[in-house]
Amino acid sequence: MTADPFNLPSTALPGRGLDPAEVLDRLREAKAGDRDWRGGKVFSLVYSAGEDHHRLLEDALALYASENGLNVLAFPSIGYLQHDLVRMTASLLGADDAASGGAVDGFVTSGGTESLLQAVLTARDDARDRRGIDRPEVVLATSAHAAFDKAAHYFDVDLVRVPVGPDFRADVDAMAAAVTDRTALLVGSAPSYPQGVVDPIADLAALALDRGLLLHVDACMGGFLLPFLERLGRFDTPFDFRVPGVTSMSADLHKYGYAAKGASVILYRTAELKRRQVFLTTNWLGGLYASTGVAGTRPAGPIAAAWASLMHLGADGLLELTGTAHDAARRLRAGIESHPELALRGDPPATVFAFGAADPTAPGAPDIFAVGDLLAARGWYLDRQSPPDSLHVTVHAGHAATVDGLVADLDEVLAQVLEDGQRAQDRSTDYGAPGAG
Ligand SMILES: Cc1ncc(COP(=O)(O)O)c(C=O)c1O
Repeated sequence: MTADPFNLPSTALPGRGLDPAEVLDRLREAKAGDRDWRGGKVFSLVYSAGEDHHRLLEDALALYASENGLNVLAFPSIGYLQHDLVRMTASLLGADDAASGGAVDGFVTSGGTESLLQAVLTARDDARDRRGIDRPEVVLATSAHAAFDKAAHYFDVDLVRVPVGPDFRADVDAMAAAVTDRTALLVGSAPSYPQGVVDPIADLAALALDRGLLLHVDACMGGFLLPFLERLGRFDTPFDFRVPGVTSMSADLHKYGYAAKGASVILYRTAELKRRQVFLTTNWLGGLYASTGVAGTRPAGPIAAAWASLMHLGADGLLELTGTAHDAARRLRAGIESHPELALRGDPPATVFAFGAADPTAPGAPDIFAVGDLLAARGWYLDRQSPPDSLHVTVHAGHAATVDGLVADLDEVLAQVLEDGQRAQDRSTDYGAPGAG
């Protein structure tokens, strides 16, 4: 490898191509410095239902490595797979309940961000066409995912971020006060990424109905988690299309659907809203061009792998994985809460949460980023986030084997930080760190 002007390792296009075996060796070599999520010490970015499951995903990805999801007339199977994924997801999220209106439908997208982009674009166009609002607003809590900022930036929509309440959940009264004549869309998270708490969806839905607004429930994290927690009797608050007033939802297959990366579902309550997502043009020399997402040419592998994941796991498998992940999260939570100097942020019901100093201003309070640094030195990878300064974990079924080790290490490094009073030099947060180029 030769150095580039930014001092990143870079490889020139070889004049004469390498043998496949050598290419694969090089890839393995390149990966050597990456986090080893297989060891169960990485608490973000990857979800694991075990080695056999990953092999199934890889086989399904390989089967569809070269097909193009842009055109389901050429590859009808990709259309069937997407239809199944949408139906299965809709069914988990209340579409079969009479209260849903019976028309819930949607699309497979490349991930949570694309699902949220589409929800905002659909709401913007609905507000422009139906209500004559030129520059619509989205009202959402400060905890809603950063992808909404990206959507606002891409689509010329204004975001009105409203501070969360002391429990880190959306403050519905404050959101109601932020609604104006330009508001097109309200957002609730189930659960939020930063603190893993579920917003009061029924109250947000009542507000949306009262003011004639759309409401998107971001269940990117919870779409394949909360329905199973509910069946386990560990969560009992309707958050989906059973709640009148919820007009769209996102649910990521590549999170708790244990699919390969690149698959999410966006759902709409009505056919009218769903239609708004379809882009059609004949305004070029290539004839009719229709597409339902951001990309034109689309990888079909993630669609096939997501289908393989749900078909292989089935409802029973997802139920079991949810129970396993939730048990592991409870053990980790108990370990954290056994230290009076630490506290969880809010009361997260599922498997995603953040924790930090119980009172960061108290004399002798531990610096949670120093705790994070010492855990990192022992091989644990936890996101750092702020405000407030916290460590963040996404617990999946694969962590059942490792959380007790994390709790034991946390006990030791916390004792060290409390004794030494050390503070981390590096205060940066790092969720979402793209490379150059
Ligand atoms: C609640 C929520 N929404 C949206 C996203 C964005 O999803 P993605 O990273 O797949 O684009 C995430 C990612 O963690 C999330 O937790």
